[in-house]
Amino acid sequence: MDKLVIKGGNRLSGALPISGAKNAALTLIPCALLTEEPLTLRNLPRLADIDGFQHLMGQFGVTVSIQGNRPEDFGRVVTYEATRVTNTVAPYDLVRKMRASILVLGPMLARMGEATVSLPGGCAIGNRPIDLHLEALKAFGAEIELAEGYVRAHAPDGGLPGGNFDFPVVSVGATENALMAAALANGTSRLGNAAREPEIVDLCNLLVAMGAEIEGIGSSDLTIHGVKRLHGATYRVMPDRIEAGSYACAAAITGGEVTLDGAKAGDMAATLHALRNIGVECEEVKNGVHIAANGKLLATNLSTAPYPGLATDMQAQLMALLCRAEGTSVLTETIFENRYMHVPELTRMGARIETSGRTAIVHGVGSMTGAEVMATDLRASMSLVIAGLAADGTTNVNRLYHLDRGYERLEEKLQLVGADIERVGAE
Ligand code: EPZ
Repeated sequence: MDKLVIKGGNRLSGALPISGAKNAALTLIPCALLTEEPLTLRNLPRLADIDGFQHLMGQFGVTVSIQGNRPEDFGRVVTYEATRVTNTVAPYDLVRKMRASILVLGPMLARMGEATVSLPGGCAIGNRPIDLHLEALKAFGAEIELAEGYVRAHAPDGGLPGGNFDFPVVSVGATENALMAAALANGTSRLGNAAREPEIVDLCNLLVAMGAEIEGIGSSDLTIHGVKRLHGATYRVMPDRIEAGSYACAAAITGGEVTLDGAKAGDMAATLHALRNIGVECEEVKNGVHIAANGKLLATNLSTAPYPGLATDMQAQLMALLCRAEGTSVLTETIFENRYMHVPELTRMGARIETSGRTAIVHGVGSMTGAEVMATDLRASMSLVIAGLAADGTTNVNRLYHLDRGYERLEEKLQLVGADIERVGAE
């Protein structure tokens, strides 16, 4: 298996292109199931998770054609055409590898009146149930049964009536599934305490471009007037705010200065706020965000929360940065119960971190050392890359497939701004 070899100590400087957002793309692609007309997505990142999702779409009879990229986009242009949906089952083997597969449930049910999706099961960052996805769809009139590890959903004859649902806990995925289903329901649906992450706004904007009627976009109260049919569209995937935030941490830990080309400051306000508290200058510039650090990092306290709060997907990367800050920081992870898997690995590199339940206390250290490390999820792996960029000596990050799921051309981008990083095949 490949690994990343990082020689720490280089100060990052220059411009780094930000890709289309993985987590937006993973909810925009299943929208192709909502229409028999072609859906073209631009600025799609080249990632293992996107390839996996496209493979899943192929199982339903959706044709996927890749058209290369456009000069103004870093990513790909791909057209999805679900003229006829030939299969309504998302099998265990595919769902197990990619939890986001659950996002076909809502659109498949709305278009076909039935959908069968394997239960995803737990994952490295926690239990991750899908009860809220199912409750929302039931509130819209779906009949749902669980059998043999699968969710089987049916709409009444004539389609989903639509309905009201208040989320007891904010869920990005459940909001997405509910939105896609409600778009084609017979009546009006209302979602209360809905997630309002920028990726949800991106989904709403695509649905509107396809002919959906949605009120309250960007708020936690969404009203969706179902329409009889949706049409095709061409849509550009939003920039990846988590990728941008990750590279901001990478630049900051090296005392560097980078411009995140294409990043949208407004989407990453909580991350930029945290970085400023750590002593990093962050400035919105034309078509991007400029990050400048002078080598001195300050401790700060952080707590993750649903948007507009600090993204849980930034917690590990900010922790890596705080390992090198002056003073003691307290981090609280409020979204997932088991998202400190990077702590033992950072500790092996010389970090001083104590965890207790959802709290982590990070005592800043003057230096860290390179080590052989591996992580169990995407963002945890990125935190090890960030720590490695400023560690003494060489860090080998193993289990690269996690990073390949969510960071497009990671080593190329970091090389572009001066990092000593390369991918090597296992001996
Ligand atoms: C999305 O996951 C992202 N994934 C995650 O990105 C991200 O960490 C998460 O949102 C939170 O921002 C994609 O967009 C593909 P949730 P999702 O439903 O939708 C609980 C990354 O690194 N919950 O908002 O699965 C759940 O257990 C990742 O890119 C229920 O209890 O997250 C969690 O505690 C990984 N029942 C909380 O809600 C449900 O039915 C928020 O989860 C659903 C969720």
